[in-house]
Amino acid sequence: MTEVLGRTDRDILRAAVMLRAGELVAFGTETVYGLGADATNGLAVAAVFEAKGRPRFNPLICHYESAEAAFADVLASPLAARLADTFWPGPLTMVLPHREPSAVALLAAAGLETLAVRVPAHPVAQRLIAALGRPVAAPSANRSGRISPTSVAHVLAGLDGRIAAVIDSGDCRVGVESTVVDLSGPTPILLRPGGVSLEGLQASVASLRTASEGGDGVIRSPGMLAAHYAPVVPVRMNVTEVRGDEALLAFGPPLPGAAAVFQLSERENLNEAAAKLFEGLHWLDAQAAALGLTGIAAMPVPAHGLGLAINDRLKRAATA
Ligand code: TXA
Ligand code: MG
Repeated sequence: MTEVLGRTDRDILRAAVMLRAGELVAFGTETVYGLGADATNGLAVAAVFEAKGRPRFNPLICHYESAEAAFADVLASPLAARLADTFWPGPLTMVLPHREPSAVALLAAAGLETLAVRVPAHPVAQRLIAALGRPVAAPSANRSGRISPTSVAHVLAGLDGRIAAVIDSGDCRVGVESTVVDLSGPTPILLRPGGVSLEGLQASVASLRTASEGGDGVIRSPGMLAAHYAPVVPVRMNVTEVRGDEALLAFGPPLPGAAAVFQLSERENLNEAAAKLFEGLHWLDAQAAALGLTGIAAMPVPAHGLGLAINDRLKRAATA
């Protein structure tokens, strides 16, 4: 059984003691819940891959208390330092050359010469990392290939009994995972759209390219395989008509005729929609199972601001 902890100092301390002992603790961040392990403990990091059923070639993000702590483990360029000033603490992950030697277990980076680092803004995440006094390696707290969790219930649905504890951290304000940018090469590359909008990032990084513009066909972010974020039932994107045996993910006035409806944002606000996206997919998936529906139909979402991250996750769900 996985223990559900609260947010008192005592609970946070208990969670840090568990991490110290090499156990796994899920905790809230402003993006999604993370499945935390002491990043300096190779066995604990291995247990993360085991609990998630995650392929070993897919590296983990290390979470730090401050940019200073993060930059002790990676080589930060002046651009990285500037991005840290602008976006940390917050939903931005930077991939940078891993400094050797470093205390971070090699398995966390899955054998790559780079390391993904992030300073989260959520107070529970910050308190936990501070209490541990070490970086926390944490992928999203879902089984590999499944929808990311934005609540304790989501975490337990996937990982109950497989991890020591989960800290009830309340809601995840942003709701989609962090934006991942690779700064390890000559040109900054956007590996995953996320909680920091592309427009926001471009304002700071004029030369930013998207992974598809990389041109050489190399998958730079091993986690960005097409099929991901899979609900159990199939997903159709950009629908303009919905069938009576489908569940509808609505954005704005809902299309008529669906068997179940989840509203991402009545007033078509992209930040609100991002915050509700995974809750909506989890809920509609459960409705589909309960009512015997054939799939989830998602209404079009504009591709600007957090809409880019929303469409990216829906596309992966639809590819599964
Ligand atoms: O918002 C988030 O980023 C959440 C919270 C918990 O921080 N974490 C998260 O982790 O989404 P995960 O493991 O589900 O996704 C991390 C992504 C994966 O696509 C992984 O392949 C990529 O980051 N990544 C990690 N280290 C990398 C590296 N060294 N080079 C390239 N990509 C890397
Ligand atoms: Mg994930």
